Amino acid sequence: MSVVDEVKERLDIVEVIGRHVHLQKSGRYFKGLCPFHTEKTPSFYVFPDTQGWHCFGCGRGGDLFNFVMEFEGLDFRTALQELARRAGVELQPRTPEQVEAESESERLRLLLEAAAAYYHTLLLTAPQAAYARAYLEKRGFTQETIKTFQLGYSLNDWDATRAYLFGKGFSVEEQLKAGMLVEREGGGTFDRFRNRLMIPICDRRGRVIAFGGRVLPLSHSAPDAQPKYMNSPQSVLFDKSKVLFGYHLANQAIREADAAIIVEGYMDVMIPHQAGYKNVVAPMGTALTEAHLQQLQRLTKRFILALDPDAAGIHGTLQGLETARQTLDREWDAVFDPRGLVGVEGRLKADIRVVTLPEGRDPDELILEDRARWEQLIANSQPIVRFVFEQLLKQEDPREPKGKARIVDAMLPLLNDIGDSVEREAYVQDIALRLGLDARGLLDRLRVRERAQAVRRQSAVKAPGLATPASDLEAYALSILLNYPALLPVVDNQLQDTGFEEINGKDFSNEYFFVWSAWLEIGKNPELEWQDVLSSDLVKRVFELQKGLPPEISSGHPEREILRTILILRERRTRDISKEVQNLIIEAQASGDLAGIQYGKVLQDLNEYLKRLHKTLAKKTISE
Ligand code: UTP
Ligand code: MN
Repeated sequence: MSVVDEVKERLDIVEVIGRHVHLQKSGRYFKGLCPFHTEKTPSFYVFPDTQGWHCFGCGRGGDLFNFVMEFEGLDFRTALQELARRAGVELQPRTPEQVEAESESERLRLLLEAAAAYYHTLLLTAPQAAYARAYLEKRGFTQETIKTFQLGYSLNDWDATRAYLFGKGFSVEEQLKAGMLVEREGGGTFDRFRNRLMIPICDRRGRVIAFGGRVLPLSHSAPDAQPKYMNSPQSVLFDKSKVLFGYHLANQAIREADAAIIVEGYMDVMIPHQAGYKNVVAPMGTALTEAHLQQLQRLTKRFILALDPDAAGIHGTLQGLETARQTLDREWDAVFDPRGLVGVEGRLKADIRVVTLPEGRDPDELILEDRARWEQLIANSQPIVRFVFEQLLKQEDPREPKGKARIVDAMLPLLNDIGDSVEREAYVQDIALRLGLDARGLLDRLRVRERAQAVRRQSAVKAPGLATPASDLEAYALSILLNYPALLPVVDNQLQDTGFEEINGKDFSNEYFFVWSAWLEIGKNPELEWQDVLSSDLVKRVFELQKGLPPEISSGHPEREILRTILILRERRTRDISKEVQNLIIEAQASGDLAGIQYGKVLQDLNEYLKRLHKTLAKKTISE
């Protein structure tokens, strides 16, 4: 039995999901309010028999693993580890190094947890923390928020923390590794955090992995200590470029709101959270990275960047937008241009917006002052295209030809990302108008750019197809066709005679779809070469396909090979779809969903089709 099966066997899905969702028994199944979308009447079902779940409201569903991955925002590997741990199932035996590394991390976690509790208690009770408490009050923090974020206070002392942690059994070496101590030149150590407001930084599951320590302004007559925020250094647990502050408290809300608000700092996360805007996270004083966006895009496709209006803030925003454009999911579309060039075009699936805050105002101040204003700002957030355009108008001289050109060049990639063609054209017209240019010229330029990009991107869709067995069959069928082009009408006739569709684009996927489409195009226009219709890497693939034919084919029956391969491909695809529909029906029945009847008809048709495929495949003339 695989580890996955073993875990599923040992854990009860009702029990695991029931920890997060209030489930009610109803017949053979359980139902509750879906944790992945907002609803008033329960359409989220858990099926104990099949150990599956499905929400008829938002369409999400799957097994225990999917649930944990979706709900806790974990990748498969981490979900497996977590569930295996709960189920008491051993994953593959660990090497001594792994065991040691894990126990080291485990020790550091315990240490940081102890430190956070220590600082928190000090903040709540120590007389020395009176000023810190007053400061938090002045900044608008409630007792509850202080507890939620487990805020703390570090004493104004060179080794109080070390002594405390030492007393709890943590060695100086461990404290150094956790970043709690700084090594003194010439030997010895001192506490990294002294007389600071302590903000625990947590991982996605809410475990403390580092601290941010804010200086307390004017707590004594000396000038404020520098820097404003002292953060833990990188460690085995803490990678500054990956962590989003507040994620563990925000992830549910991001899903519910279907939007993530990205702000700049600790305060800008905590105060909004307190005010009920919980879908807010912040990077750790760095620009947005790919790692940040990858975590967030599991939760939502809508991002709102609420950032400083100063020059540095704008620069950071633009940088973040560029990272976002390059990182986030794209929808790949096949496109054919008038010359029959085949290509793919990627349009950003995400919706990225920008909120520019009033000069000198951070989200925390704004919310405390006037929350309606904040809501209004969020509601009126600008689409990135507009934001970037406004910025460019400020940076470049839009009256100078050179300035216009630079603005246009910077705008093209963003315009290209817009999924909706009407919207895209509207922006183009708007921009043309404001720059005093001809909109048609701008659109042409956009198309040229798209073409160039499409050709470059063909390689991007290539990789995934190669690994799957279906693609091997597709390659096989194509390589015969490319070697015996005259067989296409022969095979098409045979297919139609047995009541099937001719060979068509649906029989091929990924790169082979492009090769197939290009081949048809060349067939229609004899003056065209492969090089005219495909990018160079795909042309190379075509040559490989032409050369890669097993020699015995020529002596055998190439047309039969093509026919058989195409039928097998269709059989596989139909079987996959039919399986999905079967599951749908099972679930629909369990929930008493009337739409299930509809699925029944679909399944019947699919089975009918499958039977015909099987019968044809079993014919002597085809199978031999
Ligand atoms: P800001 O200087 O804007 O601080 O830095 P802030 O978050 O608004 O904090 P308050 O309102 O002045 O108390 C934004 C973020 O940059 C990082 C922190 O993550 C901070 O929240 N930062 C800033 C540092 O790491 N170190 C610093 O010295 C300053
Ligand atoms: Mn601030």
